[in-house]
Amino acid sequence: MEIQLESQPYSNAQSDALVTYVFDKDDKFDGVLGEIDRAMGGRLASLASTGELTGKSLELTLLHFPEGLAAKKLLLVGAGKPEKFRVSDLRRIAGTAVRHLKTRGVKKIVFLTREGERGPAAAQAVVEGMIVADFESDKYRTDRKNRQIESVALSGFDGGLGADLTAAIENGRVIAESQNFARDLINEPSNKLTPRMLASRAEAMAKEAGLAIEILDERKITDLKMGALIGVAQGSVEPPRVIVVRYTPENPKPGAPVLGLVGKAVTFDTGGISIKPANNMEKMKYDMGGGATMLAAMRALAKLKPSIPVIAVIPATENMPGGRAQKPGDVQVAMSGKTIEVINTDAEGRLILADAVYYARQLGCTELIDAATLTGAIEVALANVHVGAFGTPREYLDRFLESAKAAGEKMWPMPMDEEYEEMIKSNIADIRNTGSGKGGGASTGAWFIKEFVDDTPWIHLDIASTCWADDGRPWLAKGPTGIAIRSIVDFALKE
Ligand code: BES
Ligand code: ZN
Ligand code: ZN
Repeated sequence: MEIQLESQPYSNAQSDALVTYVFDKDDKFDGVLGEIDRAMGGRLASLASTGELTGKSLELTLLHFPEGLAAKKLLLVGAGKPEKFRVSDLRRIAGTAVRHLKTRGVKKIVFLTREGERGPAAAQAVVEGMIVADFESDKYRTDRKNRQIESVALSGFDGGLGADLTAAIENGRVIAESQNFARDLINEPSNKLTPRMLASRAEAMAKEAGLAIEILDERKITDLKMGALIGVAQGSVEPPRVIVVRYTPENPKPGAPVLGLVGKAVTFDTGGISIKPANNMEKMKYDMGGGATMLAAMRALAKLKPSIPVIAVIPATENMPGGRAQKPGDVQVAMSGKTIEVINTDAEGRLILADAVYYARQLGCTELIDAATLTGAIEVALANVHVGAFGTPREYLDRFLESAKAAGEKMWPMPMDEEYEEMIKSNIADIRNTGSGKGGGASTGAWFIKEFVDDTPWIHLDIASTCWADDGRPWLAKGPTGIAIRSIVDFALKE
């Protein structure tokens, strides 16, 4: 999708569709909307008076051959109540417009922002919304139609903002394309994305983005004594990999923090010997969503250049019930030396993360964020609305939640009280990999990871219920969402 600033006045700009938005109770139609209404002989006001045009959130009103405009169609998207409106809502507005118009033969769009939203943040939100909305999960369909939007021109922006505006558009593009990069990986079935294949995709990305990368193979993993990861991987004929990607700023400040991004990449989770039911098991190809999230964040950061070094550590494996698979009751020794009683082989994500967060600390990370499709319990708690955000110390988590807010991604703080620690004590080893007692599954999972993080400031994002959307949304295709990347990138840029 080509994106540029429109140089012509919006009314003269040739396009298949001009898109703008209407607020709920926007009956005065001021500014550009008033101009459009007058040019169309009061048609908007009359549609509003009959209740057809209300401005309710994401309502769509499509008008053909609008008078006074060079565009072939005019699409008005509802923006909801003006007092609730935030610039980040432009993402969904622009995304909804793209998804509506691309099925109607539209190739060129002019997006007109209204008087209140003409700064760089607005431009970035529109660009992100449109590129993310244009992604489809139809890679393996031989009959797929090319319905992509070819070009978008942004109108209404003050050309005087110059470089800031150009940078905002570029940043929006980088972040959205990185999000789509993750979504493409998450979509891949497990026969097209084994741990080794994920490692080569990461290598190709790193080469293109100018990032350093190292792939640890099974021998290196064994030398490092990553017993928790090996325990999971031994049930599969596919060998595990640990993918390490590094970003180093040009002039690193001495003593600056080093941010570690750790992502769970189980390329298929059968549950192992504690095997999952057949129903919906095909969805477990997306159990590498955390790893894809971190690779995508690195791809974006390579271009956005934060001032601190960032290291991604991605443990990649299958979780299979092969003849050599670990069994419930087995004890594994993690790289840190802690012993783990494996009560349930399906709680494998925390096992591979245990070694990955420990290794990230050995590589010099002084702060850690992990992302993982870790527990079904997070769906019970937060449905598919919020990412479950755990972390210690609390102030560190709060800072991260500010980034989530700025990025327009819903995340909810989850408790990290010591009572959860009690629930993962084992009778025969240091810890067990599932909670004893009832409930709190997402929190005991988080505590398990914390055992290997110790006092390092740390955020854990449980994206099990938000990484994949079973139903499409007006602004997003069904399937992988690419959640959390924007928040992580925002956070890294502010560190
Ligand atoms: N990959 C799953 C979690 C998951 C569930 C992701 C649903 C996406 C959708 C994870 O490895 C798992 O199986 N967790 C178990 C843990 C339990 C055995 C303590 C779970 O949540 O049931
Ligand atoms: Zn599992
Ligand atoms: Zn899993």
